[in-house]
Amino acid sequence: MSSNKSDRDRKIAKAGPYILRVDPGRYLWCACGRSQTQPFCDGSHTGTSHLPIEVEFKASTRVAWCGCKCSGKAHLCDGSHNQLSEAKAMAAKRE
Ligand code: FES
Ligand code: FES
Repeated sequence: MSSNKSDRDRKIAKAGPYILRVDPGRYLWCACGRSQTQPFCDGSHTGTSHLPIEVEFKASTRVAWCGCKCSGKAHLCDGSHNQLSEAKAMAAKRE
């Protein structure tokens, strides 16, 4: 997991993936962790250094959306949530 300037205004929405089946179409994945409609953007990134990532699916697909916002594969969980410190994961659960 990286720690850079933009990490400061990024929240851990969930210390694990949101596993959802999605219909074909375009989706905006929340990269900032502030959306109330996780894992999708609700506009709450306004004022942060983050923008949502647009993802398109051509067919119905089961997706493991990153909830921790620390994945190295953008919207897809890559297991990086396992590297979160226990303190960070607990803080995310309380929010
Ligand atoms: Fe973010 Fe798994 S939930 S890498
Ligand atoms: Fe998080 Fe839009 S609300 S990127």
